[in-house]
Amino acid sequence: MQVSELTQSEVTKALKSSLDALSAIGTAEELRQSKAQLVGDAAPLTKLNALIKSLPGDKKAEAGKMMGEAKAELMAAFEAKAAELEKIARAQRLEAEKVDITAAANYIQRGARHPLSLLMDQISDVFVGMGWEIADGPELENEWFNFDALNFHPDHPARAMQDTFFVSPVENHLLLRTHTSPVQIRSLLERELPVYVLCPGRVFRTDELDATHTPVFHQVEGLAVDKGLTMADLRGTLEHFARVMFGPEAKIRLRPSYFPFTEPSAELDVWHPGAKGGPRWVEWGGCGMVNPNVLLAAGIDPEVYSGFAFGMGIERTLMFRNGVLDMHDMVEADVRFSRQFGQVI
Ligand code: PHE
Repeated sequence: MQVSELTQSEVTKALKSSLDALSAIGTAEELRQSKAQLVGDAAPLTKLNALIKSLPGDKKAEAGKMMGEAKAELMAAFEAKAAELEKIARAQRLEAEKVDITAAANYIQRGARHPLSLLMDQISDVFVGMGWEIADGPELENEWFNFDALNFHPDHPARAMQDTFFVSPVENHLLLRTHTSPVQIRSLLERELPVYVLCPGRVFRTDELDATHTPVFHQVEGLAVDKGLTMADLRGTLEHFARVMFGPEAKIRLRPSYFPFTEPSAELDVWHPGAKGGPRWVEWGGCGMVNPNVLLAAGIDPEVYSGFAFGMGIERTLMFRNGVLDMHDMVEADVRFSRQFGQVI
């Protein structure tokens, strides 16, 4: 195309259209995408510039000067816009990445070992310290281990449905163990004599949950079978146990009682020097000399061996030892209750 002149108004118009387009741009990204339209090959000024070479010789210098000035103005405006948009983008980035270093930290709540577990560990330590072993058995137990082998008569009231959770079908003779004493039989069948075992564990009875009962609770069972064991060994063992648990002034008392699997049998009371409201006797558990019928059920000759056994409730022990008044606190799993007993993990 042949042109004779390039007027200032044409240049100004081209410049203005680019400047208007430039001022309408809102983001750095938009600016990048429109760069060719604004200042590159597709810009109106670039197109006008291409005409200079076809101008008559004497017009070229003047046209070149006009173009140069216009381009310089446009480039300056472009750079200024780019700097301004970059500043905005940077401010937005900083805002988005902002961290409030004065904000309160979000601490993860720490758990604590349950006081019942702690107490069972502590009791286990007392006996392991005397050379005893820790034994365990299943919570879903065979009726024979829970009752028959322990010398419970077939129609002993403890077997009745209102105490025991039988598991259907009843013909399978499975139940949730009602005490830890079946571990006595299991230990005698599994181990070499002499046997000195302690079994802490969970037991089940059909009681309603209230301030002093829970259908799921814990016991600790002790069993010693050796040659020549007497009630004096039982007494000495329990006395040592009581002193570790309740302090050096603690003492024990045995009151005649009855359990099918011990003969003679006794209720065990402990003199609790630190009891809430002053020192007093507290019922703690059951004990006795292993009934010869139990030894026979495990294939042991009662003429050669004798033994003693004892059992107590862990919840009950925790209640009177640590002044816990309500069983609900032990089953509700509120970590604040556990934390009071230390050993936060
Ligand atoms: N198993 C008995 C109970 O649950 C306690 C006990 C254990 C008694 C060992 C004597 C010997 O009541």
